[in-house]
Amino acid sequence: MEGDVSPLMERFSRSVETDFLMWREDISVNRVWATELAEIGIYTEDELKSVLSAIDLIVEEMEKGSFEFEPTDEDIHVAIERRLTAIAGDAGARIHTGRSRNDQVVTDSRLYLKGRVKDWQIELVRLQDSLIAIAKDELGVILPGYTHWQQAQPILLSHYILAIFWGIDRTITRIKDYLYRLDVCPLGSGALAGSAFSVDRERIALKLGFREASPNSIDATGDRDFCSELLFDIGAFFTLISRVAAEMQMWNSLEFSFIEFSDGYATGSSMMPQKKNPDAMELIRGKSAAAIAAANQLLILQKGLPLTYNRDLQEDKKITFSQLEEAILATNVFNEALSSATFRVDKMQQALEPGLLATDLADYLVQKGMPFRQAHEVVGQIIRRAIHEQCHITDFRLETFKEFSELFEADVFKSLQFPVSIAQRIVIGGTAEKAVQLQIAQAEDRLKSYA
Ligand code: ARG
Repeated sequence: MEGDVSPLMERFSRSVETDFLMWREDISVNRVWATELAEIGIYTEDELKSVLSAIDLIVEEMEKGSFEFEPTDEDIHVAIERRLTAIAGDAGARIHTGRSRNDQVVTDSRLYLKGRVKDWQIELVRLQDSLIAIAKDELGVILPGYTHWQQAQPILLSHYILAIFWGIDRTITRIKDYLYRLDVCPLGSGALAGSAFSVDRERIALKLGFREASPNSIDATGDRDFCSELLFDIGAFFTLISRVAAEMQMWNSLEFSFIEFSDGYATGSSMMPQKKNPDAMELIRGKSAAAIAAANQLLILQKGLPLTYNRDLQEDKKITFSQLEEAILATNVFNEALSSATFRVDKMQQALEPGLLATDLADYLVQKGMPFRQAHEVVGQIIRRAIHEQCHITDFRLETFKEFSELFEADVFKSLQFPVSIAQRIVIGGTAEKAVQLQIAQAEDRLKSYA
């Protein structure tokens, strides 16, 4: 190549601001690669020693913050190799023997993600732990369950909270599967065709802590499924907590007042003194937009590319790493905001409309032998009468019920109670307290399996 790269292009092509994050992984890769080069006779013992001690010095500089980047340090790999050459001379310069940044960058990325995704997993399990604690604390609290934002049937608050638990659990199991596929070592794949030096790729994989060496060098260097798959998991996670956040905002409004966020996770308005905004929830909902877009962006980034490395792929880390950080942060905020919130049991109770028991009334008739469709129709008529008389279905006396069906007996009033409605739903996964207790035990077992 003749001529220098223009400073403008230099700036345009730099990725060091992002890939700096994986300097430790680049160090590990350099150590293992240098050792491997010694194994195959590229380095003498002395050269290896000087390269390894130069690497140690770089680690020191990085940790102290005294490592100096230069404008020509396009990425972290170039920066470290430049410094290695400056310290160890010729031996440093030969570190790149038989490897390419194409296999180096994906090896670093996979190593980095392995660590950071596990950190996320830990935070997700902590969130699950908090959700179980809330479910246990609030056991017995009844609130209206909504469909179409209409009061539908009474449910236990703990049941709702555990719904979040199982959604989070899907994220965790997805991540587990993902980590298995992530755990493959591309180093030794070279630029695309495999290293021309006979390094032992299985030994390298083992030393770096990977499950196996990648089986195909073209696939290994060009594939970014390990980014898009993670971004899908992040997008699905954000979609879940964004839905909960939207509901919590509603619960937080004056009209509902089911939940009160602690001052730490809500803010006042600069203008309206009466306001306390559920900012944590709003930001979760807001940030989910970028998370969902990111999965899409990564797939679009790849869709037109031939199977090998193309420079476009440099954009992968900026998106993936930043979204992973957002996911970790959002997991913590969501956890803290919910854990420190107060659930207003009194307000939930006040909100319970007797109309929530309409299904129970129909079920009552079914138990007395009426086909459900007919029971549905009869209860519909009773509700219309209640609307007409501006009262609740629970206000009618037995005589009135009997006008609609002879099947009604005095025991109808027993089934027209919220706790009774709840207790009926004792099926696995139902909202009855016993069923919810079983669910809590299941959730706890799940958590133990993650310990
Ligand atoms: N900074 C690049 C990236 O992150 C490293 C790979 C560059 N490879 C190349 N052939 N230019 O993708």
